Amino acid sequence: MSPVATRPDPVAQAVARTAAAAPDWATLADAARSCVACPELAASRRHVVVGDVPESGRPRFALVGEAPGATEDETGRPFVGRSGALLDQLLAEAGLSRADAAVLNVVKCRPPGNRTPKSFEVVRCSGWLNRQLELLDPPVVIALGLSAAKWFLGPRTVLAQVRGRPHEVDGRVVWATYHPSAAIRFGPNGAPRAGLLADLTAVAESLR
Ligand code: URA
Ligand code: SF4
Repeated sequence: MSPVATRPDPVAQAVARTAAAAPDWATLADAARSCVACPELAASRRHVVVGDVPESGRPRFALVGEAPGATEDETGRPFVGRSGALLDQLLAEAGLSRADAAVLNVVKCRPPGNRTPKSFEVVRCSGWLNRQLELLDPPVVIALGLSAAKWFLGPRTVLAQVRGRPHEVDGRVVWATYHPSAAIRFGPNGAPRAGLLADLTAVAESLR
């Protein structure tokens, strides 16, 4: 899957070709770390946050976020800041283990000031995510937040209309739910936190 591009982007096509040629995760990660397809992001990032994979290399499920934040950019690892801490807590409450998961993002480089990634950045980075999903082949994907939900379910996706139930996309089961940053923004008694926990719990039940 990938978002619909209005016209062909030769840079995105070059990324996709490079990614598709990577025979394994390590080769793909090396190639992604030197990617400069998005000039603004490549100039301001400290790390390309390629993603985490379980030691087994065989995730039971994949978590897909939007893009790295400040802590992720500093450390080079996904979901290790405030959103990551809440995500870890809710995963544990739901009965899911992060050690079983691939942790990925739609866009691998931090957008300055945590702005939403531009659509051309999403298009250019999609080659990496497509190949990551091919190589890891997670049976279940949890899309966190609207950017990831749109990536899997299409540009007109409305989160409230798609969350809470599984969708089939290219032979994979995809759940879309709130991003932990929304759960933080709306507080411990807000709807996003409860919805995120309910959806993670439903995924856990489906995996049992
Ligand atoms: N938010 C995301 O979408 N991804 C991360 O890796 C961290 C915060
Ligand atoms: Fe490359 Fe993705 Fe970073 Fe853009 S966001 S420079 S496509 S790795």
